[in-house]
Amino acid sequence: MKKLLKIVGGIFAVLLLMAVAGIGYLQVSLPDVGDAPDLKINATSEALTRGKYLAHHVTNCIFCHSDQDYNYYSGPMVPGTKGKGGFAMREPGVGVVYPSNITPAALRDWTDGEIFRAITTGVTKDGEPLFPMMPFPEYSKMAETDVQAIIAYLRTLAPIENDVPKSEINFPLNLIMRTIPQPYSPSQLPAKSDTLALGEYLTTIASCRMCHTPIGDKGQPLPGMDFAGGFEFSLPNGRIVRSANITPHRDTGIGAWEESYFIGRFKEYADSTKSHIRVSQNGDNTMMPWTHFSGMTVEDLTAIYSYLKTVAPVENAVEKHAKVVESTVNK
Ligand code: HEC
Ligand code: HEC
Repeated sequence: MKKLLKIVGGIFAVLLLMAVAGIGYLQVSLPDVGDAPDLKINATSEALTRGKYLAHHVTNCIFCHSDQDYNYYSGPMVPGTKGKGGFAMREPGVGVVYPSNITPAALRDWTDGEIFRAITTGVTKDGEPLFPMMPFPEYSKMAETDVQAIIAYLRTLAPIENDVPKSEINFPLNLIMRTIPQPYSPSQLPAKSDTLALGEYLTTIASCRMCHTPIGDKGQPLPGMDFAGGFEFSLPNGRIVRSANITPHRDTGIGAWEESYFIGRFKEYADSTKSHIRVSQNGDNTMMPWTHFSGMTVEDLTAIYSYLKTVAPVENAVEKHAKVVESTVNK
């Protein structure tokens, strides 16, 4: 018996040593995505127009990195907060995540290459990992010219001084996140005429899959459930909203939607009366950035619609708005 205890104790000590060594390895060696590229971005007017379009209406940079007013449906941007960061997102089990200040007040000392590396691989100027709520795994597939256009546009934002606190990520996610940054693996920018390829590209850089695929208890996307909905978000009022099933499943997804209806659902929020619909304290709200996406062109929305029609239909009925539970509101 004693011998057995000794063996077990020995194994335990070895395991502990391995765990400590593993954590040490993670902290010292990862992430490892190499040096920031040496580049100087040429801010042509074409690049600035493209960068502004993407940052505001497609890649959601401005949505996450500005204050969102959830007194209104879909949290439209609070005027004067563009890019200032700091709009805290709290997720039970994850921690508190603070989107960074991305105005020139904060990025002034970053080289174009360092910003490029942050967007496409998920590490800061100092090589520290970013929490993947910042959708760098999607942006790692963005075409080089598009990333450059976005950086050119960020440099033109009004500088806003705002010291954003460091995100507080719970154990073990704070260690796991060190393994996520990967080298940049860009796509070619699809031709406008190649509707399906364009739709797939836009769906990726707009993080549709990220928000619309349910995740397991370790934060991993559930296999076979791409775009099937059910990802849960906590809204600032304590209510839960779940993403919709946007696979072409007829009954539980968007399989019965006509193209014009799909485009109309986005475009209705371009109307200034619709982009500011007041929501009561405990009312239904959403994390779907409708007001930002409403500025997407009809061609781009059509491409996204066409692509979504080709993904595997998944039967998954989602109750988007969880019922109001008294103890979770008014916190
Ligand atoms: C879904 C929300 C979200 C979107 C969309 C998003 N970001 Fe972020 N971003 C974050 C969060 C959160 C952080 C901070 C992560 C952390 O603290 O680990 C961050 C960090 C950054 C950083 C690092 C800055 C620093 O000081 O370390 C840069 C640069 C950045 N984002 C740029 C962008 C750009 C450009 C886009 C659009 C192409 C974008 N972000 C889209 C949430 C987002
Ligand atoms: C930040 C997370 C987020 C992102 C990014 C996002 N969605 Fe959503 N989406 C949601 C949530 C949450 C809902 C459910 C609540 C609602 O209807 O607004 C939703 C709802 C929808 C609906 C309504 C479906 C229905 O049954 O009424 C459509 C269509 C949709 N999203 C398409 C998209 C597409 C296409 C993209 C990419 C261009 C996208 N979403 C990106 C979170 C997101």
